[in-house]
Amino acid sequence: MIPFPRLRSNIIEQIIRAAGALDGCVVKDKQIILITGATNGIGLAAAEALAALGANLAIVGRSKTRTRIALARIRSAAGREEPVTTFIGDLSSQASVRRLAAEVLARYPKLDVLVNNAGAMHRTRQLTKDGIELTWAVNHLAPFLLNKLLLNRLKESAPARIITTASQAHYGAHIPFDDLNAERSYRGFDRYCETKLANILFTTELARRLDGTGVTANCFHPGLVATGFNRNNGLLMNLGMTILRPMSRSPQKGAETLVWLATSPDVANVSGAYFFDQEQKLPSPEAQDTDTARRLWEISERQCAVRSSARQQRTD
Ligand SMILES: NC(=O)c1ccc[n+]([C@@H]2O[C@H](COP(=O)([O-])OP(=O)(O)OC[C@H]3O[C@@H](n4cnc5c(N)ncnc54)[C@H](OP(=O)(O)O)[C@@H]3O)[C@@H](O)[C@H]2O)c1
Repeated sequence: MIPFPRLRSNIIEQIIRAAGALDGCVVKDKQIILITGATNGIGLAAAEALAALGANLAIVGRSKTRTRIALARIRSAAGREEPVTTFIGDLSSQASVRRLAAEVLARYPKLDVLVNNAGAMHRTRQLTKDGIELTWAVNHLAPFLLNKLLLNRLKESAPARIITTASQAHYGAHIPFDDLNAERSYRGFDRYCETKLANILFTTELARRLDGTGVTANCFHPGLVATGFNRNNGLLMNLGMTILRPMSRSPQKGAETLVWLATSPDVANVSGAYFFDQEQKLPSPEAQDTDTARRLWEISERQCAVRSSARQQRTD
């Protein structure tokens, strides 16, 4: 039991405000913010901060237990019971992403902010039920499909915002258009970097397509953050992450730019940009290539239509 939820909420808010991170950030009344990957790390810290600022949150988790624990933490940060809704969905499955989108559409006539944050790295190559390499499926195709399915609702809710958690790990990466399923070679970190490049290219193309709609799309690098990231890849990787811990920032610090992108009036009219610590940065030359962004979009549409083209909704 957490005896003083409002007090805890104030403490979280004060810690972030003390760092100046939320100066000017405004959560409008009844603003609905949907966050994936909110059961741990950056997503959970962002959800706590946004709840403390007064947002009506919708969180997505794949495990009922972890989602319930996250819900309790977010409610305690908010200091009230009402405004957090949970959705359960495994983002590695396209059927699950479609189900999630349908539930969100049924629940919310309006959606103000969509945060694509869930992500992971996998040391070994694995295939999803859809026959897609797992890291690509979760980090790139899941947000791609979820956004396509929710895009009309976001447009109807304009002004609205889409935020994607990318990474500076994208520098030096290329999209392997001739081996998208990583059949010829697979290295866990290289694959992860490709998906983070895909996050930025997705943001660029999405912003272009959304021009004039009142919906913005931006992405950011959170820094090296002490989270559950890469703790799923065996003892050695776990040890590596523990060694990196003293050099890593807290999840709260890692979440600051996300919270700022979701709520600050400073970025109300900025779209298609990549940020680090609330500053717009230039991503890699590959990430700025609009032809690559368009090509990736078209291929992703085809990858998401696999096995379920009849059910694919046209959303743009
Ligand atoms: N940590 C860093 O240094 C760092 C740096 C740059 C970018 N990032 C990015 O930050 C984002 C958040 O990662 P994090 O560092 O906060 O790691 P984390 O603590 O491991 O959190 C990842 C979140 O994604 C969820 N997730 C993973 N696979 C999923 C799936 N198949 N279906 C549904 N949800 C799934 C996890 O759910 P469970 O709780 O069920 O596992 C968890 O909520 C990722 O996109 C990552 O690439 C992290």
